[in-house]
Amino acid sequence: MRLPILQSDPKAAYLAYQQGIDAAIRRVLDRGWFILGEETARFEQEFAAYLGARHAIGVANGTEALELALRACEVGPGDLVITASHTAVATAAAIDLVGAIPVLVDIDPATYTLDADRLTETIQLYAARGQVGGPGGLKAVIPVHLYGHPAPLPIILDLARRFGLRVIEDCAQSHGARYQGKPTGVWGDLGAFSFYPTKNLGALGDGGMVVSNDDDLGERVRLLREYGWKERYVSSLRGKNSRLDEVQAAILRVKLPDLEPANERRRQVAARYQAMLSGLPLRRPECHPDALHVYHQYVVRTPNRDDLRTFLRDQKVGTLVHYPVPVHQQAAYQSHYRPGAGGLGHTEAVCRQVLSLPMHSELTGEQLDYIAEVIRRWQPPAEPKG
Ligand SMILES: Cc1ncc(COP(=O)(O)O)c(C=O)c1O
Repeated sequence: MRLPILQSDPKAAYLAYQQGIDAAIRRVLDRGWFILGEETARFEQEFAAYLGARHAIGVANGTEALELALRACEVGPGDLVITASHTAVATAAAIDLVGAIPVLVDIDPATYTLDADRLTETIQLYAARGQVGGPGGLKAVIPVHLYGHPAPLPIILDLARRFGLRVIEDCAQSHGARYQGKPTGVWGDLGAFSFYPTKNLGALGDGGMVVSNDDDLGERVRLLREYGWKERYVSSLRGKNSRLDEVQAAILRVKLPDLEPANERRRQVAARYQAMLSGLPLRRPECHPDALHVYHQYVVRTPNRDDLRTFLRDQKVGTLVHYPVPVHQQAAYQSHYRPGAGGLGHTEAVCRQVLSLPMHSELTGEQLDYIAEVIRRWQPPAEPKG
């Protein structure tokens, strides 16, 4: 067995599909059409069919997928958008890119996604102040399906309907995840995906996708991703350049048919971790009974996180912390957000305790046995440091 064991392994993901990917790249090179051609169009159709969406629009990355979704909903300068503070900073960056301000709501520490009660209280609070809809009011909610676990979508959709808010799902970590059998991405007005190489469906470079079942919103995103062009060189909207390129689309077409089995392999890895780590002083991930988790990350919690991380690193096991600093404590955002109701206590506690163990669909049983054996040897310090 080769050491170190990487926390994620995009090279292994390439090698697992090498023949198909090499042939797909060759096909694009031979055709000589590199931007918005047959590969992107077909990948958009295939991804839309996979999710049951009417529209799928390939874009440059996941951050811009969120940005374009917000712009399609006409969220703009001074508007308020609810999301979680425990997320990739990209979620807040996208809100900032359209000039809007994030309203940061605490998470449910069991699922690491928006807490339904805190979300309800926040919307009610802003409604009581007359700050829903209208200029400078709440316009949208971005639930983040963090680590591959869906946010509580039925409650979010119900609140959004009652208060006239748009829902844009951040699906960067949830390709193939479902809630009550329905895929993430098609619950809200729009869904935004990233194909960053380590994602469950990963490219060999940057890529993203916006999906929608709303014809109007889908058409707006399609225009916005290329200078607002309805026809070439004629802008009917103030758009930008955010295109998925042909090479990445061709690569993603090779991997999409294997996404379901690859997610199943991730669930098997998670099930083995659950069994192997039982009885240890670690909080293991939980899965809501209505949710189909896709384990983008397998995240454990301990007050001795840094000690465990160092111990694993010394034994050549890679880990990461997703995420060490919540958005509201980042230097760039600490004076550029509004607080949700009820504070951010869980967010601030979990960021000191979470540790992402190695997780990808190519992990072998031998590697998992080794990781578990190393963790079993770890002795937490007598005095917790977290
Ligand atoms: C939750 C979340 N949202 C958004 C993004 C942004 O995606 P990208 O890196 O493709 O811009 C990422 C990925 O980094 C993410 O994990």
